[in-house]
Amino acid sequence: MDTRVKKIREAAAFILEQTGGKKPEVGIVLGSGLGKLADAIDAEVVIPYAKIPNFARSTAIGHKGNFIFGTLAGKYVCAMQGRFHYYEGYPMERVTLPIRVMAALGIRTLLVSNAAGGLNQTFSVGDLMIIRDHINLLPNPLIGKNFAEFGERFTDMTAAYDLDLIAKAEAIAAKAGIPVRKGVYLGNTGPSYETPAEVRFYIAIGADAVGMSTVPEVLVARHCGVPVFGMSVITNISNTDNASTVLNDGDDVVRAADAAADRMCLIFKELIASI
Ligand code: HPA
Repeated sequence: MDTRVKKIREAAAFILEQTGGKKPEVGIVLGSGLGKLADAIDAEVVIPYAKIPNFARSTAIGHKGNFIFGTLAGKYVCAMQGRFHYYEGYPMERVTLPIRVMAALGIRTLLVSNAAGGLNQTFSVGDLMIIRDHINLLPNPLIGKNFAEFGERFTDMTAAYDLDLIAKAEAIAAKAGIPVRKGVYLGNTGPSYETPAEVRFYIAIGADAVGMSTVPEVLVARHCGVPVFGMSVITNISNTDNASTVLNDGDDVVRAADAAADRMCLIFKELIASI
């Protein structure tokens, strides 16, 4: 067997031992400062990443490092409280391993969240943005021998972010009186924030928000045929001018994400209830 597949199966088998064979329907990735949603889960099993065979350790600020299994909005879900980033030094295969493990466990939908910089200068700190598409400036995690067990060599990305889930989320937000933006997320490697010249470039090519995650996970989920919904919390507005006096800061990012977490949680919960 392909050693990469063996690693995924080992992790999935270990998890199933812990859940007593229960398989999640929905997978959730909670980004920086957004771990709060985990509190809303009626958790049955909490597994630290450090215990799961072949998993990396979550070292990023605002990321706890637990896989949580339990019930949310009437569905058995698994939530990643903290994710892995390419900038932590892990190869893409390890960054995205949990997504393949969730796919192997049988999830039928993946919800991803992140903290992001607002490239779109009409955005404000604390805004929620439904991701309608992305631009990838990270290495593609699908490079290498195809995982034929999961999907085809060439993954279509026309509607990478599921159009029905987007429509449902917009309706949920409107009904709850929660304003939401919709836009294009640009994923770059980090860990440095963007220069104003890069910010102007990213705006010019059509991006609305920028971050250091999510895109690899979405590529792998789509390769596995799992429908995806994504949401960014705008935690800072990207500087277009070198003379800007408000500098980007990791602690501000986590604080702003935390402040927006309740609104995002409500949308995620109702979206899960609707699928
Ligand atoms: N840039 C990249 N990643 C981020 C940012 C940003 O401004 N804010 C939160 N994550």
